Formats: sequence, structure tokens, C-alpha cells
Amino acid sequence: MSMTTDQLSRVPIFKDVPKKSLERLARIARERKFAAGEVILKEGDEGVGFFLVTSGNVDVTRGGAKLNTLGPNDFFGEMALLDNHRRSATVTANGPVSTYAMLRSEFVAELESSSELAIHLLSAMSRRLRDTDERLAEYER
Ligand code: CMP
Repeated sequence: MSMTTDQLSRVPIFKDVPKKSLERLARIARERKFAAGEVILKEGDEGVGFFLVTSGNVDVTRGGAKLNTLGPNDFFGEMALLDNHRRSATVTANGPVSTYAMLRSEFVAELESSSELAIHLLSAMSRRLRDTDERLAEYER
């Protein structure tokens, strides 16, 4: 099943993205489901996919330590796509998880054509960096 543009427009990073771009995104997104405990992507691997969580939660870990838990409407897998480095963390299904996955080349093409999408992604990434900085400061206190 593919995503509808309505579903996409309710996801914060796709908010205000032009309809044409949402239509292309809806066409390229493929539903991928994972069972509890399944590793969706692995730290150190090369990355080709960007994932949007539609139901369930995933744990983000690095070297076995938990960095975060992400849930519905959150995304992951953007870092390796943007900087061409390897996956920065392992993402594991914490219970049954449904996602919509997009291939790097297709997702990057949409970022190039929609400044709204690029800005939402940047602001979500800033928020994550801010949270990480806060946690780091607490840890060092
Ligand atoms: P990527 O490096 O491609 O693959 C692992 C993903 O985990 C990464 O992209 C981000 O989407 C996600 N991730 C890494 N670190 C964090 C964090 N501190 N908080 C939330 N998500 C993260």
C-alpha cells in the first residue's frame, strides 16, 4: 500500500510541502514492516534508505548505548543520506513497526525541489542536536 498525500501532509517534516512534491513522495514511498527486535539499519553500514515511522517505536543505539526512542511521524536514516557517511547508529524495532521507506536518490531529489521540506528536515535535525547537547551537558554535570 502506498501513502496518500493527505497522510504525508500531516507529518511535521512534510507540512507546507507543495502538493506536487507530496504526490511524488507518496509514489516513491514503500511500506516496510518490521517485527519486534528486528534491526532496521545498522551502525557502520552504508545507507540507501530514509524511513518515516507510521506506527510503533524504534530504539536508536550507538555502541550498544541507547541514544533515543522514535515513534509515529518521526523519521530516521537521513544522516547517512545527507553526508554520505556510514550509518551513525543502529535502529531496532521495539515491538512491531510500520514505516514508509524512500530511496536516497529519490528523497534527495525531493529535497532539491522543495525548500519547505529541506527547512523542516533541518529544523528537526537542529532539535535532535539540541536534545543531544542537553543530555551531554547533564551527563557531564
Ligand atoms: P543515519 O546515520 O543514516 O542512521 C542511523 C540513524 O539514527 C540516523 O541516520 C538518525 O536518523 C538516527 N539518529 C542518530 N542519532 C540520533 C539521535 N541522537 N536522536 C535521534 N535519532 C538519531
